[in-house]
Amino acid sequence: MTWTPPLREELRGIEPYGAPQLDVPVQLNVNENPYGPSPALVADLGAAVTRAAGRLNRYPDREFTRLRSGLADYLTRESGSDVSADQVWAANGSNEVMLQLLQAFGGPGRTAVSFAPTYSMYPEYARDTNTRWVAGRRHEDFSFDLAHALDLIAREQPSVVILPSPNNPTGTALPPEVIDELADALSEGILVVDEAYAEFRRDGVPSALTRLAAHPNLVVTRTMSKAFALAGARLGYLAADPRICDAIRVVRLPYHLSAVTQAVAVTALAHADDLLAKVGDLRTERDNLVTWLRQTGYDVAESDANFVLFGQFSDRHAIWQGLLDHGVLIRETGPDGWLRVSVGTPDEMDAFRQALVEVDR
Ligand SMILES: Cc1ncc(COP(=O)(O)O)c(C=O)c1O
Repeated sequence: MTWTPPLREELRGIEPYGAPQLDVPVQLNVNENPYGPSPALVADLGAAVTRAAGRLNRYPDREFTRLRSGLADYLTRESGSDVSADQVWAANGSNEVMLQLLQAFGGPGRTAVSFAPTYSMYPEYARDTNTRWVAGRRHEDFSFDLAHALDLIAREQPSVVILPSPNNPTGTALPPEVIDELADALSEGILVVDEAYAEFRRDGVPSALTRLAAHPNLVVTRTMSKAFALAGARLGYLAADPRICDAIRVVRLPYHLSAVTQAVAVTALAHADDLLAKVGDLRTERDNLVTWLRQTGYDVAESDANFVLFGQFSDRHAIWQGLLDHGVLIRETGPDGWLRVSVGTPDEMDAFRQALVEVDR
């Protein structure tokens, strides 16, 4: 019998999302933090997971109460704006947080909007929740085109607008006045500011968390995958009006955050200073990289993140492949002609610079 899986029509022929996971010496392609946890943290994580293991016959705390208050304290300290535990929600990576947001606030007959070039997963959340997807655009230099955005919002009346700040893959942060204007314009919808890379922002660039008290329809998402160097733990979270958290409770799967994940995340928060210690070094390394790329003659997008978009190449794939042949994996993403490189250790950045000089003679 010939049988084909009865996949939804709109999913047929689609390649699953995923950057190449290649075993090469210098991995600068998925914006990970190059620094692993300290031995003290590894020991504490081991002890916390052992304690959780003794109770794995029971379902975890569905409300992840300790974790929510730990995340609220961290956000308050990091942003200088008060965030309380009932304003916090968490899931398995900020990817899952955003999927839950679209499950609750998108859906058939509703529209979600973002502005290209931007994070390639957003249209997938929309597709998977049967939400109509509309992509606006940015200025040529990737800065935010507020007039165009307000026009698009007035025309499309979206239920959800998703905007990363800093934006992936360009690194561009959103000015706070843009957040105010968009939140006000969305009288019937929510504005999701995806701050996956917020801790890497330059001095003087405020977090969208500072605008939370002013806008009940503003949602700010964060992750432990980048600045906290815990991509493998899968913990993303958001801060918003408690009514938004209540709406997500309706769509989340039962006990979606495992006891092991909760134990790891609570322990990591107790070591936040240790985990975040390298963020300053990475910001310096990023600024040095931007300077070097510009001095070498490349166009470079302004970056408030732990990656840099640079170009422009007539054949970017050839450059990407050439770097890979030198053991350096970066990301072929963003507008044609541009490439994105994550910020690694000083040694990794040296390897990247040397390889680029040789490949792009
Ligand atoms: C803009 C942006 N948002 C969200 C994520 C997802 O992060 P995670 O699901 O690991 O929290 C990423 C990952 O690279 C990202 O670039």
